[in-house]
Amino acid sequence: MNSKDSKTNDKLEKIVSLAKRRGFVYQSSEIYGGFAGVYDFGPMGVELERNLKEQWWRKMVYEREDIVGLDSAIFMDPKIWEVSGHTKGFSDPLVECKECHKRFRADKILEEIGVSADEKMSEEEINKIFEENRGKIKCPECGKQNFTKVKKFNLLVKSNLGDFTSDNSEPVYLRGETCQGIYVNFKNIIDSMHLKLPFGIAQIGKAFRNEISPRQFLFRGREFEQMEMQYFMRPEDEMKEYEKLREYRWRALLELGISKENLRWKRHENLVFYAKEAYDIEYSFPWGFDELEGVHARGDYDLTQHSKGCGKQLDYYDQEKNERFIPHIIESSGGVGRLFFAIMLEAYTEDEMSGDKRVFMKFKPEIAPVKAAVFPLLKNKPELVAKAREVYEMIKKEIQPVVFDDNGNIGKRYRRQDEIGTPYCVTVDFDTLEDNTVTLRDRDTGEQERVKIKELISRLKI
Ligand code: GAP
Repeated sequence: MNSKDSKTNDKLEKIVSLAKRRGFVYQSSEIYGGFAGVYDFGPMGVELERNLKEQWWRKMVYEREDIVGLDSAIFMDPKIWEVSGHTKGFSDPLVECKECHKRFRADKILEEIGVSADEKMSEEEINKIFEENRGKIKCPECGKQNFTKVKKFNLLVKSNLGDFTSDNSEPVYLRGETCQGIYVNFKNIIDSMHLKLPFGIAQIGKAFRNEISPRQFLFRGREFEQMEMQYFMRPEDEMKEYEKLREYRWRALLELGISKENLRWKRHENLVFYAKEAYDIEYSFPWGFDELEGVHARGDYDLTQHSKGCGKQLDYYDQEKNERFIPHIIESSGGVGRLFFAIMLEAYTEDEMSGDKRVFMKFKPEIAPVKAAVFPLLKNKPELVAKAREVYEMIKKEIQPVVFDDNGNIGKRYRRQDEIGTPYCVTVDFDTLEDNTVTLRDRDTGEQERVKIKELISRLKI
């Protein structure tokens, strides 16, 4: 293992281990050995995840007069996935090691030996490159050099919902992306909401992909959540709106506390035939910069395809110009899990406090899973516990979530709260009983100060 690999694994392992130890993320079905590519969010994880989704919804819906929300179903008419091109084109290049029978993505294996390849290449194209480099490629699992030919493997996940045939010959798909639910509701939304172009439709929801090698924690899962916004406009406005959306998404990520140095734009080299332009925002993951979210200009492809597919014109009537046309679409599409992972990496901090090493999660207070923790200095003094409970109840009415913690000594409680990124700890001690002040400790600096209980809420700047 070279030093870059060991550094990569080191940071990755620290995050995975903290995520489990502190109730952020668990591997699905862990007690049965784990279920690949699927994760469960624990008590801390669910709070962080909700905060990230809320920030996205606020930026993409509440702060925008021109965008509305939607929650479409996971299951849809299977024809939708044919018309969108997914049943044929939504695939990754798969190669199998004939010795250990592990399967890999051929483009990823090629990338690892410095050969540029792309999942969008045809089976022929990628086989040609694979053959040219066969001599250099070793199985990442067993190290042998005996691979099958590359085959395109479709990523749609099938179910038997409503399919009562004996051989499952009429499969229904779990959605591979949430935006198809937006396109097929375009007509419903203009008819019911009377929106004028340009306007957007946003939704957050689960998506499923039969990823060949789910890897790197939440980065590539088989079940994950997407946050997608599709923006509809006149064709001539597409590139102007596209630039605005790119800028908007970039700023939204900075507002979450991600540093500029850890983000960059990456232009797609191989555009799909209908796309006008496509950029990804990449984050500096432990293995290098990789896709966090995408901003794509999709032209009129999606509405044109669905117009053909369903036989109804999915167009827009511009009353002022007395004109009908199919709007063009730009999209912002990001994964909740990838953003969650990036935010964990960004927040992870090691320092020394009072001579001890400590780990703390430097989340912005707005997205921290717990906003404040309240402690009685001693657990076995009923008068301290009663007063601490009173303070806890008072804060809880204004700020959520707040926790009450009397486990272990105060040092241990601080460490625990630091590791989940709680911005403030409030301690009730014997002085509190005399003067109604408490100790307020700041997560990042460890500094403590006496604060009057009646001023506490305004001091917890969240
Ligand atoms: N509607 C466009 C679309 O789905 P995509 O690049 O395939 O585009 C968009 O996916 C985003 O969804 C990605 O930028 C990533 O954040 C997230 N994503 C895609 N596949 C994922 C996976 N297997 N696991 C976790 N997140 C994924």
